[in-house]
Amino acid sequence: MAELIILKLGGSVITKKGEGKAEVNKEVLERLAAEISEARKEKEFPLMIVHGAGPFGHVPAKEYGLHEGLKDERQIEGFSITHHSMEKLNFLVVEALRKAGLNAMEFQPSSIGILRNEELVHFPTEALEGILNIGLIPVAYGDVLVDEKKGISILSGDHLVPYLAKKLNASRVIIVTDVAGIFDSNPKENKDAKLIPEINSGNIDSLNIGSSTSTDVTGGMQRKVRELMRLEIESEIISALEPGLVKKALLGERNLGTVIT
Ligand SMILES: Nc1ncnc2c1ncn2[C@@H]1O[C@H](COP(=O)(O)OP(=O)(O)OP(=O)(O)O)[C@@H](O)[C@H]1O
Ligand SMILES: [Mg+2]
Repeated sequence: MAELIILKLGGSVITKKGEGKAEVNKEVLERLAAEISEARKEKEFPLMIVHGAGPFGHVPAKEYGLHEGLKDERQIEGFSITHHSMEKLNFLVVEALRKAGLNAMEFQPSSIGILRNEELVHFPTEALEGILNIGLIPVAYGDVLVDEKKGISILSGDHLVPYLAKKLNASRVIIVTDVAGIFDSNPKENKDAKLIPEINSGNIDSLNIGSSTSTDVTGGMQRKVRELMRLEIESEIISALEPGLVKKALLGERNLGTVIT
């Protein structure tokens, strides 16, 4: 799908992840929805959205040890609770997008996907391609999935994005998060951290990329970068907190944060 853009809205921006509250960050979510809507009015392109979890997913997943595989009965309850919580967040995200005039629809990964040792091994995309082809905006998310080896595992949005980018032959991946890009160390912990405009195999090892300052069961920033480095499609990490960046990125501007090549 030639012009397809896959946009990941980080849990760190659409929820109150920093405060550890399973609440939507309404102000940011509504602004992002408006920016996406404005971009789509100026230019036609197929768009898939994947959103992260914030406390809606990371907190119950951690409480029930869902990232450790299936070990006891209690985790089945945890699966149900965590999935249901992500469904609520997914509903709220789609609702915000719809209010901004976008034809978005909920897309549930756990009902079609299978992991093997935390790697996606089965995720049929025929319906998804049809949905994109008629101009709808499917909105998927990080979810709890059946895992062939571990019983259950977490599908991180940061894993789903490159998987789909490759399978659907996307033109670009845009990752939106609560920092301006990748820094040489965690900017939330080091005020002198320097933004790195481009990451490639030559400089990746010199950077101190940590996980997340908040609860994150799927590896935070480190995992994001590792997954994107393996992908042979252009990707960029940008900030959602600076108004206008998401719209600019969707309309084709580059070098707004950190480009990963
Ligand atoms: N070197 C680094 N550069 C930039 N951010 C870093 C770095 N090291 C660690 N981080 C942390 O990564 C965080 C972003 O990753 P995180 O996984 O928390 O966000 P997210 O993916 O948007 O949320 P979610 O996983 O809920 O979708 C930043 O808030 C920052 O604290
Ligand atoms: Mg994360």
